[in-house]
Amino acid sequence: MNKYKVQVQGLAIEGGRPKLSGPELLCQLKGGVKVATLTSDLQPFSELTWGSLLPQRSMTFDLGPFKSCAVVTSAGSMRHSGLGAEIDSHDMVLRFNAAPTAGYEKDVGAKTSVRLINSQVMASDDHHFLSSSLYSAGILVGWDPAPYSADLNEWYNKTDYPIFEQYQVYRKLHPQQSFHILHPHMEWQLWELIQGNMAEPIQKNPPSSGLLGTVLMMSLCDVVHVYEFLPSRRKTKLCHYYQSYYDEACTVGAYHPLLYEKNLVKRMNLGPDQDIYTHGRVTLPGLHTFTC
Ligand code: C5P
Repeated sequence: MNKYKVQVQGLAIEGGRPKLSGPELLCQLKGGVKVATLTSDLQPFSELTWGSLLPQRSMTFDLGPFKSCAVVTSAGSMRHSGLGAEIDSHDMVLRFNAAPTAGYEKDVGAKTSVRLINSQVMASDDHHFLSSSLYSAGILVGWDPAPYSADLNEWYNKTDYPIFEQYQVYRKLHPQQSFHILHPHMEWQLWELIQGNMAEPIQKNPPSSGLLGTVLMMSLCDVVHVYEFLPSRRKTKLCHYYQSYYDEACTVGAYHPLLYEKNLVKRMNLGPDQDIYTHGRVTLPGLHTFTC
């Protein structure tokens, strides 16, 4: 399975690869992954009638830096965490896809500053993306997997789900809400970073929303706390805290190289292991806070 035509040549190192330290990995991330969102001046959008609906500047250019940010994964182990107040004490809180806060405030908090949504959620009838009030809080950021070597033009004509059609309709319905789309280069640069630091071949699919959102916040904040990406003692087969659906693949990955993503985040974590065990909490530095 290589749906996105990923090429691994050049990433394999003969005789094994050196295991990088946390600070070395952070420097690879800072130097090798360009965090950006689409702007209206980029081709092909600059030539499309609806292109002016896109922001004029990248999200990372306009926002931040914020002091402290929280990334709240949707893992089942968020249930009974009691982390709501701690999460809400951050300046910015990022959530994913259809993750609700109503009814779960004690465990996941109530603040939503940014919501990262994949194109499948944007397009599927089940999620009522265009009409549900779930999506009306905070800044929206959409993403869709592009073919590995594609430029924006090729991706525009070959998205996984109709992200641009949904984007246009949503923007017209909610013109006041800030709505960005991740530049797809980021996904594959991150993928290369993961594969380049693993001794075995990883899934040839883009990283999960969890890692994309974490790196997005690392580009906007001084400190990022990620909750239940590395599972705590509450680890469970429950997929999402807001659904009664059990599947371990949600935590360890099937489509996404999630286990490898978690391995990298564990190595980059600045916090004590005890924080992971008790709070499912990882501490990562903002990309602008360190030099390489
Ligand atoms: O399932 P969904 O992609 O909406 O969840 C958001 C993110 O939370 C995932 O991309 C993944 O990184 C993380 N997650 C997790 N363990 C779970 C469920 C989600 O690490 N059980």
